Amino acid sequence: MQHLLDTTDLSDKQIAQILEDAKRFKQQRPGHLLCNKLLITLFFENSTRTRSSFEVAAKRLGATVVHLDPSRSSTNKGETLEDTFANLCAMEPDGVIIRHSENHTPRLLADKKMTSVINAGAGNYAHPTQALLDLFTVMEHFEGNVSGKTIAIVGDIVSSRVANSAIRLFTRMGMKVVLVAPQSFMPQSDLPQYEQLEEVIDKVDVIMSLRAQLERHATPLFDDYTIYAKHYCINKDRLGDRNIVVLHPGPVMRNIDISDEILEDPRCKVLEQVKNGVYVRMAVLKLLLLDA
Ligand code: CP
Repeated sequence: MQHLLDTTDLSDKQIAQILEDAKRFKQQRPGHLLCNKLLITLFFENSTRTRSSFEVAAKRLGATVVHLDPSRSSTNKGETLEDTFANLCAMEPDGVIIRHSENHTPRLLADKKMTSVINAGAGNYAHPTQALLDLFTVMEHFEGNVSGKTIAIVGDIVSSRVANSAIRLFTRMGMKVVLVAPQSFMPQSDLPQYEQLEEVIDKVDVIMSLRAQLERHATPLFDDYTIYAKHYCINKDRLGDRNIVVLHPGPVMRNIDISDEILEDPRCKVLEQVKNGVYVRMAVLKLLLLDA
């Protein structure tokens, strides 16, 4: 049984296989490779992209998907997370796809060895399929040659599981990662840090803009996010005509993270990331449920 808790669970060969399968699936959709498989999605936090992307990916491969909505489940009657998981596993799924606010939850459940556990985003620690789809999108743009390219991660990095997984995967692939954020959004890190994007923008090939995650801050770090936007919004004035790919995991706070104009710009790959996410998750499910 193989789990995906972070990309560190994958060998270099497995990452290459995921990228190759995703590319192949994008060119030509495969048949129902997982037609006898059952997946359960269990999202304790809101999601638009990841949950539906996993569901679309699984169904395109012929798998059956059952969604348990925790807000309407017996966790509201006092059942523990572990007992909820054990009861779902008693139904013999081939995998449980989980999102949770605590960093360690996917690991805790995986250690029970009841089914394959796939992390769909945990706390501020890891979001492995987002990192894989971001890598796929960058690889696609640079025709496979990402080693030596520089990516600036901009925004609320300290709260971001997307940033954490991206940093681990992009550096592993030989990319240079720089961090751009106000002090209150900057994590402890050995990576190069900048307070202003202007200090580094001429050395950057990719910008990953992140949402200010208001729900993860006990007290607001900014009284007014238009002030934050003045310094960090990826807009036409800031980007100019530079040949830079713009990523964002979503949800985008329009005109705070990225301007309306740049969201329409061909350099901005936000919806391409979502499209690629389905193919990458198809490849992940194939790897975990069929190949591993
Ligand atoms: N990128 C991402 O995790 O989006 P959702 O929160 O909508 O799933």
